[in-house]
Amino acid sequence: MTTVNFKKNILCVGAGYVGGPTMTIIANKCPNYKVTVVDISQERIDAWNSDNLPIFEPGLLERVQKARGKNLFFSTEIDRCIDEADIIFVAVNTPTKMFGEGAGKAVDLQFIEQTARRIKENAKSNKIVVEKSTIPVRAAETMANILHSGNSSVQFEILSNPEFMAEGTGIRDMEAPDRILIGSKDTPSGLAARDVLMEIYLHWVPKERLVTTNLWSSELSKLVSNAFLAQRISSINTIASICEATEADVTEVSRAIGMDSRIGPKFLNAGPGFGGSCFRKDILNLVYLCEFYQLNEIASFWEQVVSLNDYQMDRFVKRILQAMFNTLVGKKLAIFGFAFKPDTGDTRDAPAISICKRLLEEKAYLNITDPHALKNARKDLQDFEEGLDFVEDPYKAVEGTHGIALITEWTLYKELDYQKIFDKMEKPAFIFDGRNLLDHKALYEIGFNVYPIGKPALNHL
Ligand SMILES: NC(=O)c1ccc[n+]([C@@H]2O[C@H](COP(=O)([O-])OP(=O)(O)OC[C@H]3O[C@@H](n4cnc5c(N)ncnc54)[C@H](O)[C@@H]3O)[C@@H](O)[C@H]2O)c1
Repeated sequence: MTTVNFKKNILCVGAGYVGGPTMTIIANKCPNYKVTVVDISQERIDAWNSDNLPIFEPGLLERVQKARGKNLFFSTEIDRCIDEADIIFVAVNTPTKMFGEGAGKAVDLQFIEQTARRIKENAKSNKIVVEKSTIPVRAAETMANILHSGNSSVQFEILSNPEFMAEGTGIRDMEAPDRILIGSKDTPSGLAARDVLMEIYLHWVPKERLVTTNLWSSELSKLVSNAFLAQRISSINTIASICEATEADVTEVSRAIGMDSRIGPKFLNAGPGFGGSCFRKDILNLVYLCEFYQLNEIASFWEQVVSLNDYQMDRFVKRILQAMFNTLVGKKLAIFGFAFKPDTGDTRDAPAISICKRLLEEKAYLNITDPHALKNARKDLQDFEEGLDFVEDPYKAVEGTHGIALITEWTLYKELDYQKIFDKMEKPAFIFDGRNLLDHKALYEIGFNVYPIGKPALNHL
């Protein structure tokens, strides 16, 4: 057996949506580095070591297969791997804290702290520790305090390197990133560690796309980036409400304002509300930070982005209810899409969860369909024993239904035969296009009563 001499050993703690894909890309792009991803979950690691990966992300499996067993490894041997590593990325989950001080807003840092302690216990040589998880500003300081406590001679240099990839387009985002942000201390050892991390990214990212800042700016930039993105969605969703009231068309308004180069066209699609594991959590984290520094007006400004998102989901349900004669009792609805966005199976904080719960409370019967998220959807709605079914085939999902609510804009829903669907449904048949994905005029001509977002309804009644 030939032994490969790797330039450096990289370790990533946390084999989730971020740790798995980011390390796969690094392993693909840097064959001279050994990359190991560890997790406390044996089930997750087993899945990463199989061809049935724990997450669905287009293009990921091929890239894992290319590097796995060569310079990419998945393991639960956390302690040994920490000892062997030169650079340790921390990509553990940082959910919203649901208890005690800061409940509902602050970040639950228990997994970060457990990781820091484990690194400290097992490191026998100096390490660069890279925060990949999204964490509150100045969390690097907490990590440093834990790592440098006691009287060990091992030195740790902490860097912030937040991840900006978006699920569904993760591979493209990581292979051709808009920017890579690296925060470090402005000390000789801090800058040297920063250079070591830059060297990894320079294997494929142009130098001008590497942005370096101090640690706190880097940590804050990640929160601000998500807050700005979510804020754009809530902003356009407020305009959708005005459009529905005035017969303006939100798509036309988005196009008109998006052509202003100061505004730009992206993230201006109205919808049933944003979801995903990050936006709500990161804005609430920003809100908590503002409150901590007694910046109460600023906290309320950002909190409103989240409140408007809740309002938008509620509005979507109310529109269904009102259109369907103010009662859903005994009515069947097909839910098209449960993932929080297309091209992922991730349903964390997906708008579909709260929309479906509200519809079930109205005593509607739901047939939920999604090409990749049904396993997660079942878990999300496990408290509801009755009133719902999970159906792979959208044509089966619509049988005998009174309406369709499209919540995730999977391309496949655009390509369905809606005449065939109409024929399988009860009449009058309704369709609520939460993403303005479909051809509304064509649906209306088939006979549907069509309710887009932020546009007048096309109604036969
Ligand atoms: N999901 C995204 O699109 C995205 C994008 C950018 C940033 N982030 C941030 O990245 C971080 C990770 O997010 P994710 O979506 O990958 O989370 P995830 O829940 O999918 O993965 C986290 C993993 O860490 C593991 N873990 C927890 N504690 C551990 C420990 N002590 N030792 C070893 N493993 C441990 C968990 O078992 C889990 O598999 C979060 O801070 C998140 O805010 C996520």
